Amino acid sequence: MNYKTDVLVIGSGIAGLFAALKISEFAEVILITKKDKTESNTNYAQGGIASVIDSNDSFEKHIQDTLIAGAGLCHRDTVEMMVKEGPERIKDLINIGTKFTEINGKFDLVKEGGHSHSRILHAKDLTGQEIERALINSVNQRSNIILLENYTAIDFLTEHNLRKNKNLTIENKNCYGVYALNSQTNEVVKIQSKATLLASGGLGQVYLHTTNPKIATGDGFAMAYRAGVKIANMEFIQFHPTALFGSSSLPEFESRSFLISEAVRGFGGILRTKDGNAFMEKYDPRKELAPRDIVARAIDNELKKRGDEFIYLDITFKDKNEIIERFPNIYNTCLRLGIDITTEFIPVVPSAHYVCGGVMVDKNAQTSLNGLYACGEVTMTGVHGANRLASNSLLEAVVYSDRAAKSIKQFLEDKRVKLPEIPDWDDSGTLTQDERVLVTHTIKEVKHTMWDYVGIVRSNQRLQRAKTRIFYLYQENESLYKKTKIYNDILEARNLIACAYIIIKSAEMRKESRGLHYTIDYPNTDDNYLSDTIIQNRTY
Ligand code: FAD
Ligand code: SIN
Repeated sequence: MNYKTDVLVIGSGIAGLFAALKISEFAEVILITKKDKTESNTNYAQGGIASVIDSNDSFEKHIQDTLIAGAGLCHRDTVEMMVKEGPERIKDLINIGTKFTEINGKFDLVKEGGHSHSRILHAKDLTGQEIERALINSVNQRSNIILLENYTAIDFLTEHNLRKNKNLTIENKNCYGVYALNSQTNEVVKIQSKATLLASGGLGQVYLHTTNPKIATGDGFAMAYRAGVKIANMEFIQFHPTALFGSSSLPEFESRSFLISEAVRGFGGILRTKDGNAFMEKYDPRKELAPRDIVARAIDNELKKRGDEFIYLDITFKDKNEIIERFPNIYNTCLRLGIDITTEFIPVVPSAHYVCGGVMVDKNAQTSLNGLYACGEVTMTGVHGANRLASNSLLEAVVYSDRAAKSIKQFLEDKRVKLPEIPDWDDSGTLTQDERVLVTHTIKEVKHTMWDYVGIVRSNQRLQRAKTRIFYLYQENESLYKKTKIYNDILEARNLIACAYIIIKSAEMRKESRGLHYTIDYPNTDDNYLSDTIIQNRTY
């Protein structure tokens, strides 16, 4: 069954849901999501959402903290905009029923790495789940939002789908929706829309160890790449310093590592080597609360030097009841693994967590393709630079979702888009894949390659080796893709390969070390490279 609508939203995390709510005030919306509607990075967010709420805090302090974490690459104008619009968007979240933790009638504002002031609103250590609950509840009440679960966007519909227009440049094309796979029926449908909003989240699954759930296979970045939409700064992959070591023995953590929130360090947690020594002072005067790139690199260095598999995070010196009250999710999950965090150290390792780059958007969330807007983790807005400040991601998502909704309203009023007759999906001549193991092995190879060669510390040689392997996997998978009836794994393999390739290419372009990108061949920061690494044309 094909669909037509005013606005198609791709993704049911904070960015997609928040935008859909705002858009539904003036247009019909179809929102598609790859699995269950709650399955998203958002749902697992722990620490919280940063914003200037306390009267002793100031916009300028939040702006400065963001710029410092971003290691010189943030766009000051977009940082200012995000920080200043933040409090209004927090009000929106509260108005739809999000309950942030309060103490004595006041928000319990806490600190995380890189913040000079306590400004993180949270819902204990389940902030994302609470925001997602409130958003889905509100979306369910809007009769003009159709939410379709188990629909995976495959590629954008543009004029290139019309045979006569194959060679148009990006400036002369428009986005008219997507082809999407209904993963329950294995049918590919055409969803046509006057405007499309990409809110498909991150790509943590490109790496072997990640805090991101299974859906985070970078589909949006890959779709944009294939369509020739501008993408930037993909070399800046944020590794969270403290994912729980050994969480994979619990079934729900088979494909993602359980996060031990940075808020635990904000609460006073101390990082220790296996023999119990604190070490962060050697690396940065801010110690455990230095920005994430610094803490993750320090841990990586200690692990490599000592040949250990993990380091410890210690909060045993804090009051037991306070720990359980503040971090119930972390306390209970660790307990299920036999670790009582009130009396024992927590074994932790860095894990791929967030991508600072993405589909380039302007301040109105407009991409380089007409009719295509984007918000949330899939974007590069300029606010994160070379390293995102903790808890700025959820904030960026709501600020840009609101802006996307406003610009889509204007676009629909100005353009009066007429949808062209785009052909249905044609899979004649393809066969059902009966050796699916070929694809699952490809996915494993991508993850190992990226973990081994494109991790926290890089080199020219490692990047070259990764590129050769990824290109080989690309050729194999693409030839299979052309012959096969589409199913989710083969789509995801294709997207993971594209993301791996874009990350490597961007990393090769940056011949310096800055923020999250550290290479032993160019160990210093070099202000000759003080610009974004932009990829526009598809080169494979
Ligand atoms: P997501 O929430 O990931 O949503 C993406 C949606 O798109 C999903 O519904 C997915 O199914 C759907 N989708 C993907 N591909 C397709 C496709 N092809 N077709 C259809 N649908 C698709 N940030 C903070 O600011 N504070 C925190 O405390 C914090 N904690 C975090 C903890 C964890 C464990 C993780 C993983 C991240 C955390 N982050 C935090 C980062 C933050 O949660 C994410 O960056 C943010 O939630 C991204 O929101 P989003 O809406 O862009 O994407
Ligand atoms: C965390 O709780 O440590 C995650 C915060 C973030 O990613 O911003």
